[in-house]
Amino acid sequence: MSDTGFDSSYTLQVAIEQSDKLSAAIAKTPEKFRMLTGDRPTGSLHIGHLFGSLQNRVKLQNLGMESFVVIADYQVLTDHDAFDKISQNVYELVMDYLSVGLDPEKHNTFIFPHSQIPELNQLILPFLTLVSNSELDKNPTVKEEILASGKKSVNAGMYIYPIHQACDILFCKSTVIPVGKDQLPHLEMTRTIAKRFNNKFNNNELFPMPTALLSESPLILGLDGEQKMSKSRGNSIMLKATAEETAKLIKKAKTDATREITYDPENRPEVSNLLRLASFATGNTPESIANEIGEKGSGELKRYLTESLNAYLAPIRQKRAELENEKGYLHDVLVRGVDRARSVAIDTLEEVREAMNMKI
Ligand code: TRP
Repeated sequence: MSDTGFDSSYTLQVAIEQSDKLSAAIAKTPEKFRMLTGDRPTGSLHIGHLFGSLQNRVKLQNLGMESFVVIADYQVLTDHDAFDKISQNVYELVMDYLSVGLDPEKHNTFIFPHSQIPELNQLILPFLTLVSNSELDKNPTVKEEILASGKKSVNAGMYIYPIHQACDILFCKSTVIPVGKDQLPHLEMTRTIAKRFNNKFNNNELFPMPTALLSESPLILGLDGEQKMSKSRGNSIMLKATAEETAKLIKKAKTDATREITYDPENRPEVSNLLRLASFATGNTPESIANEIGEKGSGELKRYLTESLNAYLAPIRQKRAELENEKGYLHDVLVRGVDRARSVAIDTLEEVREAMNMKI
C-alpha cells in the first residue's frame, strides 16, 4: 500500500481470501466482531436480496454478533431525483428486514437511517481531506452508476458517496461488512481512509480495518436469465409479492429448448438459475432437483419452483403483512436503532476530534 494511491493488490482474489479468513475467525469468536451493512431505501426487497445477503445478516445476528444495518437515505439523493417516497421506503426496508428474521428485540441488532446520525455525517469532513480527486475518478462502481444514469453532469454527492459510505462503516468501528462484489471498491476506499487517518492523526489505531464478507451464494439472475435480479429491470420476485403473482412471474421465466432438465450454469444459465432458486427454497442441491425433474421438462421445473418458493416465503410474507399494520412498532425499532448508533457515533467523533487536535 503506497501513501499516494490505492492498494493495487486489493483485487477480487485478495478480497476473497480475506473474506474466507474472516469467515473462519467469525466461526470461532463471533462476539468479537461488529457487523455493518446496509441498503438504499429505493423500494422493497426481492428474493435476490434474501438469498444473496439478508440471510447472511440474519445468520451473523443469530451467532451473537452486534449488527448495525444502515438505511442509506442520503445516498438516495445522489442518484434519484425523486425524494417523495424516501420515508415510505425506509419503512418498506424495515418491514423486509424484520420479516426475514432480523430481530432488534431479541438480538443486538440496530436499524437506522444515516440521516438521523449527525456525528456519523460529520466524519465526512476530515475524511474528504484524505482522498484525492483522481482516486475518486477511478472508482469503477461509481463510473458504472454514472454511465447507467445517462446524465451528462455528475452531482458532487454522487462523486463522493464512497467517502460517505466510509463514514457509515467507520463511525461504529465495524469489522465485518457483508457486501456483494460491486461494493468492493467502496470497501477499498474505506480501508484506505482508515489507514490514512490512523497514520496521520493517531498512533493508536483508532479505526480497526473493516473487511468485506462476500456472500457464498452465487449471483442470482433475474427471471430473464440474462442479468442480475433487480427491481428496476422488472425481472425479480419481491418478498412481498403474493403467491399468485409469484406463480405468474415464474410461468413467464425464460428457459431453453432442451426438454431434459440438467444443472449446467455455463451452458444453461436460465434453467440453472431456476434450479438454484429452488435449491435455496428447499435446501436440496440443484443437481438433485434436476435429477428429480429430468424428462418432465421446464413446465415441471416451474411448478416445482413455484410451489417450493411460495411455501418457503409464506411465513415471511405473513409476518410482513402483519407488520404493515404496526407502524408504531416499526417507528420504535428505528428510534432504538438511532439511539444506539448515535451514542456510538458521538464517542467516535469525540476520539476523532481529539486525534486531530480539535478539542477546545
Ligand atoms: N452503497 C450500498 C448500496 O448501494 C448501500 C450502503 C450504504 C452500504 N452504506 C453502506 C453497504 C455501508 C454496506 C456498508 O447498496
